[in-house]
Amino acid sequence: MKVLIVGGGGREHAVAVSLHKSRRVDRIYCVPGNAGIAQIAECEPAIGVMEFDKIIAYAKEKEVDLVFVAPDDPLAGGLVDALRAAGIRAFGPDQRAAVLESSKVFAKNLMKKYHIPTAEYETFDDPKEALSYLKTARMPVVLKADGLALGKGVLICNTLEEARAGVRQIMQDKHFGDAGNRMVIEEFLTGPEVSVLSFVDGKTIRLMSSAQDHKRAKDGDQGLNTGGMGNISPSPFYTKEVDAYCRKYIYQPTVDAMAAEGRPFQGVIFFGLILTPQGPRVLEYNARLGDPEAQVVLCRMKTDIMDVIDACIDGHLDRIKLEFQDNAAVCVVLASQGYPEAYQKGYEITGLEKFAGKEDYYCFHAGTKFDENGRVVTNGGRVLGITATGATLKEAREKAYEATEWVSFANKYMRHDIGKAIDQA
Ligand code: AMP
Ligand code: GLY
Repeated sequence: MKVLIVGGGGREHAVAVSLHKSRRVDRIYCVPGNAGIAQIAECEPAIGVMEFDKIIAYAKEKEVDLVFVAPDDPLAGGLVDALRAAGIRAFGPDQRAAVLESSKVFAKNLMKKYHIPTAEYETFDDPKEALSYLKTARMPVVLKADGLALGKGVLICNTLEEARAGVRQIMQDKHFGDAGNRMVIEEFLTGPEVSVLSFVDGKTIRLMSSAQDHKRAKDGDQGLNTGGMGNISPSPFYTKEVDAYCRKYIYQPTVDAMAAEGRPFQGVIFFGLILTPQGPRVLEYNARLGDPEAQVVLCRMKTDIMDVIDACIDGHLDRIKLEFQDNAAVCVVLASQGYPEAYQKGYEITGLEKFAGKEDYYCFHAGTKFDENGRVVTNGGRVLGITATGATLKEAREKAYEATEWVSFANKYMRHDIGKAIDQA
């Protein structure tokens, strides 16, 4: 088979590695791709993920059998629909189903209607009503822009003044653009956060091993929210009891709710959970693999990813036994100093060859490219996802941090406490 991946970050590199391992995949293409993906795929850096016509033309030119759409923006924009309309087989939710992630108002109303446990909330499309509601709201309070906002559209406000300023930022100043036309105001919950990713065929759901993100830029969960600075899998907080509760009240009920709404979901659902003293609650849904969740989860998957993708598209996921290795993985992101705000790029990356031939180590590329001299240089905020597997989380963490020393670039930055929960759980 020939497969085209849409996307060009660490998640897409992890997908490419899984497809490369598949006994059924002969050739991989990727748009735009990056310098790491280019080791195992033919990349076309000139095509962006929102250039639907160019993607369709490229898929036809290369005669691909399948397009794997990985990032949120093209899914929300309807790339899967456009590909199918052009007669091209595609993996990912269509636009009607991708709304599970692209509208927080939709997701919250779905959970309320189908009694799926989540934070108490109200939705607003008028800033005056939102401001007036705040007068009676208990602090801290959580403000969420409705639409996609690069993971930044969530504000946790400790005081009424902060919350008022937040509403104005989102709805009046349009800090997150049109994502702020509507918003959710919800109760603040506390507890460990867990990411659970799953494959879904519209009716059946198969869960992947759990993971735990580290969203803040700095050690000790300080600093700004980022796309994710590191990840571990499995999460030490995801016990059998939590799993049983979520299976009963969250996972299948979500799939059934989408089907009942006439929006059958086919693709990957990412459940962002928080384990409160009252039980697990859904913080958010994503309609795609997480980044860097994919890096720690896919490398532990035993089942051939191509078999799972086909089963999702053809609606026979019930016949698939999704299996994971009984081990652990840790990913430490090497970022450009300054991320998620301003940072420099274009610095040469050295030491990449040290990963060659090392079984349990992965150097997933995120923001990298080749410069005009063919050298690999930094090309984004998150640059590399250094990942290692081990028999235990502790062993995987030790190996991942050891491997972070193998590569160098001028403004290399990382968190030093990825997987701290391993010692606390
Ligand atoms: P989201 O994009 O909805 O996952 O929100 C981003 C981050 O904000 C989450 O990972 C949490 O750390 C935090 N967050 C979101 N909603 C809540 C909430 N209701 N209570 C506490 N923290 C939250
Ligand atoms: N790492 C979180 C996400 O992909 O949304």
